[in-house]
Amino acid sequence: MSEIRSGMRIGLGTGSTAKHFVDLLGAEVAKGFECICVPTSEVTAAQARGLDIALTTLDDIDRLDVTIDGADEIDRNFQLIKGGGGALLREKIVAAASARMIVIADETKLVDTLGAYALPIEVNLFGLAATERAIAGVMARFGAQGGKTLRKRADGETFVTDGGHYIVDASFGRISDAKALSLALLEIPGVVQHGLFIDLCSDAYLATPGGTIKLSE
Ligand code: A5P
Repeated sequence: MSEIRSGMRIGLGTGSTAKHFVDLLGAEVAKGFECICVPTSEVTAAQARGLDIALTTLDDIDRLDVTIDGADEIDRNFQLIKGGGGALLREKIVAAASARMIVIADETKLVDTLGAYALPIEVNLFGLAATERAIAGVMARFGAQGGKTLRKRADGETFVTDGGHYIVDASFGRISDAKALSLALLEIPGVVQHGLFIDLCSDAYLATPGGTIKLSE
């Protein structure tokens, strides 16, 4: 909470770690703290409404002061993999509209090289097979060490994002050039967005057994 000031416009992340932050923010709001927030998923929006946190949209305000969100992986250049919870599209839109993006995570998320975590790629339903073939081609070009799967829910149904899209989880193993991979994936017409967050995050608070450490650019 040390990064949060009264009157701030705040992006609220999605996931188990971001959920803790929203709970803490709700406790402050209950004591009179004022802020206006943009949630990155329907789940986070419902949580925030339940805590009486004031919400708005990027249609009503143009910039946010800060976004606080979790990550699936973060490297020492503050490049991220996100989307394990399926909210990567809204998370990236909100982060890009923020003056700062701060990641909160446990230290296991800090990696030397991105890619051990399968990269979530949000895809349009139209032409799914063609999009999957194109993703496979990019994976081959970038030396992916694993395969890809269409994300399923626990009940076996295909996972659908808040935006009505599917997610392909692509196992690269090691991503040596995240910027080039980002561009290559975005060239595929059926790819809506992917979970590589390039040059968006500036700071990270990582929980370690010895306490929380802050990393900054
Ligand atoms: C949601 O789509 C994700 O980007 C999450 O922010 C990310 O998966 C981290 O989630 P946890 O805090 O639950 O690990």
